[in-house]
Amino acid sequence: MLNKIKEHIAEVEAFTATSKDEIEQFRIKYLSKKGLLNDFFAEFKNVPNEQKKEYGQTINKLKTAAQEKVDTLKATLEAEEEIKGVYGDLSRPGEPIELGSRHPISIVKNKITEIFSRIGFNVSEGPEIEDDWHNFTALNLPEHHPARDMQDTFFVQTDPDIMLRTHTSTVQVRYMENNKPPIRTISPGRVYRNEAISARSHCFFHQVEGLYVDKGVSFADLKQTLQYFTTELFGKSKIRLRPSYFPFTEPSAEVDVYWGLETETDYKMTKGTGWLEIMGCGMVDPNVLKNCGIDPEVYSGFAFGMGIDRIALLLHQIPDIRMLSENDMRFLQQFKSVL
Ligand code: DAH
Repeated sequence: MLNKIKEHIAEVEAFTATSKDEIEQFRIKYLSKKGLLNDFFAEFKNVPNEQKKEYGQTINKLKTAAQEKVDTLKATLEAEEEIKGVYGDLSRPGEPIELGSRHPISIVKNKITEIFSRIGFNVSEGPEIEDDWHNFTALNLPEHHPARDMQDTFFVQTDPDIMLRTHTSTVQVRYMENNKPPIRTISPGRVYRNEAISARSHCFFHQVEGLYVDKGVSFADLKQTLQYFTTELFGKSKIRLRPSYFPFTEPSAEVDVYWGLETETDYKMTKGTGWLEIMGCGMVDPNVLKNCGIDPEVYSGFAFGMGIDRIALLLHQIPDIRMLSENDMRFLQQFKSVL
């Protein structure tokens, strides 16, 4: 009899349950009125006297073990159910982690700054709300200069001195005012122009400005830098410079890159010429250096400016500039694989 009770103790200790039902069955088996324990207690009177002590201790041990088992199993199960109520089934497979994507403007901006960083250009930034000096006057566009009309300007409230910058050339001025040559800096940022919105143009867009000022900087340095850049960005090394006019550079040029005429899209993009205009550039006008506190007798420099949006449209075959600011997830998600 004693051995039988000991076997039950072992069984009780090994018992586990995954449902309330199983625990209840277990409780009935041992602890209910008709349960085994009561049978064992009833048996007590038939146990020989000298065994009574050990017998009594053993059934008490079984009783405690069974009671404790029921209590702990119940508590564990209830705790698990409570957690399930809050978090759901914790054993279910995890939710897939959604990869984010960079905006095409950021992708192109990062590429451009990275390419120039390899040849020693740092990155600088300036404010989007500017004063007349930094947007126009210091850049050799004094009041009433006709070239001010080249860029339709948004003025802030009614103050003609405060405006949304129309180009990132403003950062050239700020950088030269605050730093001594040698200067090699790239200034990306958003610019604003009061223009009708269409598939090709927007009232805000993005530019990257480049500036190099040192002793003995020549037009040949400018050409070589641009050729390096177009090779790295587009994989195209054939460029041409067409004479142009910007108030802040002399001489000035517009840069075309030879895109090629291999596909129908090439024909469309280049209007059948194979050439694409990608930026303006030139040697920094001595007046601009002077305005920014740099002696043009000692130093010379080149500058260039390009539109990021247009390059993003080109590189990613985006048909409409407005898609860049609509935040349509179906559009943005297509850039997941691009770093
Ligand atoms: N600021 C000019 C624009 O917005 C672009 C530009 C042209 C910048 C020539 C330059 C430059 O630095 O040298 O159209």
